[in-house]
Amino acid sequence: MDLNGKHIVLGLTGGVACYKAAYLCRLLVKEGAQVQVVMTEAAAQFITPVTMQALSNRPVYVSQWDAREPNNMAHINLSREADAILVAPCSADFMAKLLHGRADDLLSLMCLARPLERVPLLLAPAMNREMWAHPATRRNVAQLRADGAQVLGVGEGDQACGEIGDGRMLEPEELLEDLLAYFQPKVLAGRRVLISAGPTFEAIDPVRGITNLSSGKMGFALARAARDAGAQVTLVAGPVHLTGPRGVQRIDVLTALEMDSACRALADQADVFIATAAVADWRPAIARAQKIKKQGDGQVPGLAFVENPDILAAIAASERARSGALYCVGFAAESQDVEAQAKAKRLRKGVPLLVGNIGPATFGKDDNALVLIDGEGTLEMPRNSKQALARMLVGEIAKRLPTLAAV
Ligand code: CTP
Repeated sequence: MDLNGKHIVLGLTGGVACYKAAYLCRLLVKEGAQVQVVMTEAAAQFITPVTMQALSNRPVYVSQWDAREPNNMAHINLSREADAILVAPCSADFMAKLLHGRADDLLSLMCLARPLERVPLLLAPAMNREMWAHPATRRNVAQLRADGAQVLGVGEGDQACGEIGDGRMLEPEELLEDLLAYFQPKVLAGRRVLISAGPTFEAIDPVRGITNLSSGKMGFALARAARDAGAQVTLVAGPVHLTGPRGVQRIDVLTALEMDSACRALADQADVFIATAAVADWRPAIARAQKIKKQGDGQVPGLAFVENPDILAAIAASERARSGALYCVGFAAESQDVEAQAKAKRLRKGVPLLVGNIGPATFGKDDNALVLIDGEGTLEMPRNSKQALARMLVGEIAKRLPTLAAV
């Protein structure tokens, strides 16, 4: 649970998106957070404190005159124990109020009273598209950012008012993702990371082909972890059924040749290349234009293959990689003897870091176990979720990069 031990103040202001805050509260609790809900009176018009108390398992605070606190200073007590204050939904009016440092209700009072250097303030705006686009709101967002608040993005699409556009509050899962990202150390700030992920598909004819069981989950988890660590991330994905992390540039490809040309072009602007893709080693020598028909006489079609380019080995041999400007990381999907195979593969591919795993034990799963091999030795990462492993791996990669000034 990624928020274990974290104390989150969840602030609700007036807006129809309050209904999503109920589910967000549940997600935060499920992630291990202690959630203290604070609502404005306007928020209580949209959803009751009873619902939020039941979901957070704590009494909800609405008024600054609440006598439950022995010292009658809820704004001080609640803000001092918080690891973060997340206001979701955050109305246009509440942003305007924060901007001026006004403090005429408990939530705004608490935001103003929070220790600036220790308690981050995250705002999830929710409003009609005209309100979001209004110059006053644009100004307020810019100034709140300059004052140190994290103003999260907004969703676009159908709005409760019937109009269509930007300004809708992000979905609860997206807000949870943003909050988790906020807590990650920014060890890849200023770096550009290129990741290949998933299988490739090599056509035999218009209806058949060869592929493999790679789901792309490890590569997508790495893309998210690298993004959360502050990197600018590009993900070249083979055919997978996964939604790309927000803020990550995604390029979809089908074949090894397409993946090869996309990765080679992008590697020129990357500082790190992580090859998690399970690239097909061979493709049919001829992709037939018409479906191969069964003859009914027991004869099977003969298929000839040609080798696909080795994307990682070629990029690792490039001038930029050899000069140290591009750091290459390979993966080895083995069926046995991972460490020995991975050691040999690291030398064969010419990469500084190679990550071994057992292919059949991890393809399609949400967890994995890794062994990292570099010139210094071996580091085992025991079985864990792919997301947790991805965060650890990103930390290990960051440690091995030349300092930014030297790049
Ligand atoms: N790789 C690549 N291009 C290929 C084949 C592999 O970029 N044509 C990359 C993979 O993304 C991975 C690493 O090379 O990072 C090792 O892939 P793997 O399939 O384990 O190894 P192979 O090179 O295919 O060797 P073998 O099949 O002998 O295990």
